[in-house]
Amino acid sequence: MHKASQALARWRARIVWRSAGRLGVCLAGCCIAAALLLGGGAAQSQGQTGPDSDAVRRGATVFHAGGCYSCHTDSKNGGAPLAGGRALRTPFGVIYSPNITPDTETGIGGWSLEDLKRALHQGVAPDGSHYFPAFPYTSFTLMTDADVADLKAYLDSVTPVRQANQPHEMAPPFGWRVLLLPWKWLFFDEGRYQPDPDRSARWNRGAYLANALAHCGECHTPRNVLGALDRDLWFAGTEDGPEGARAPNITPDAATGIGRWSDSDLVHLLKTGFMPDFDNVQGLMAEAVDDSYSHLSDEDLGAIAAYVLALEPIEHQVERKSGGGSAYD
Ligand code: HEC
Ligand code: HEC
Repeated sequence: MHKASQALARWRARIVWRSAGRLGVCLAGCCIAAALLLGGGAAQSQGQTGPDSDAVRRGATVFHAGGCYSCHTDSKNGGAPLAGGRALRTPFGVIYSPNITPDTETGIGGWSLEDLKRALHQGVAPDGSHYFPAFPYTSFTLMTDADVADLKAYLDSVTPVRQANQPHEMAPPFGWRVLLLPWKWLFFDEGRYQPDPDRSARWNRGAYLANALAHCGECHTPRNVLGALDRDLWFAGTEDGPEGARAPNITPDAATGIGRWSDSDLVHLLKTGFMPDFDNVQGLMAEAVDDSYSHLSDEDLGAIAAYVLALEPIEHQVERKSGGGSAYD
């Protein structure tokens, strides 16, 4: 409760700072009405491009960097790759990832490139409804159009699996998609990654990979009571990461972060799961390494490491939980 009220205070402060104008509009309730209207319109789309092996190969990199596999595969219960059904526990209830194989009935086989772009860039479904931010479109919005097109080629190339999506288990009002419109109004800004011309190509590649695809910040940044990321503590760690896991501070602060790590230490971790002290990471990070980051090239991992270790250090102590480990089992 105490934590919740602290979080609430932080949230209030942020609302004032970032969103006072928008909040007023939302409270007027217009957006809920708008969402009801928007949610009604169904637009079924179709169309697939033929296979292009170069695009599929490039798309595989986007796919691995984006961590799509971990969330969309129910590995714990032996689920088929990308067929969905993985339970993601959030403070608002259990969300089941959908089937993203190219099955036309239960997956996304009937989707056009525009449908995929809208989902990743705007968090909007082909029928106009809004996605829960457990699907990290808050990061994927930064993806380039070219990467989404390659990703589409890759997703079209995987084995279709017929498996119906499982409905989410969320208590009202959290399960109401209409409330996601005001949520997005407050906390989501659509926009592609803008390279920083004052930085090297390597730094920009690292920034893009870490923020648009690998979404390190979605786990390593604290969230407010409404599940929005606290941009002031970007990458600075949280005791309450996804699935209740503790995600350490990964800014280069020497005392509370990874300031003592070298680029090659970080590359080694992303490749193997081993830390400089020879301990290995567990839970969600181990999964991200196995399913995603270990498939990336040394060059891309080096770029991520160069970017992360050049971040502004943030002093932020993330307490270790008694009982240890993550809630992921
Ligand atoms: C952190 C977990 C997570 C990651 C990582 C993730 N997704 Fe998802 N994704 C979800 C969840 C949860 C939903 C459902 C959201 C909802 O129901 O509102 C979803 C929804 C989707 C949808 C909409 C499907 C439909 O039937 O409407 C697509 C497409 C999708 N994800 C593709 C991807 C791709 C491609 C990647 C990798 C670039 C990816 N996702 C990475 C969790 C994730
Ligand atoms: C799905 C959530 C998730 C994502 C995405 C994620 N991490 Fe992690 N990470 C964690 C968790 C949880 C831990 C703690 C693991 C443990 O306790 O063994 C961790 C641990 C780490 C550590 C060890 C730090 C220490 O001091 O022990 C580093 C470094 C790290 N992550 C970097 C990254 C980078 C860089 C990215 C993006 C390329 C990333 N992580 C993406 C969840 C995530």
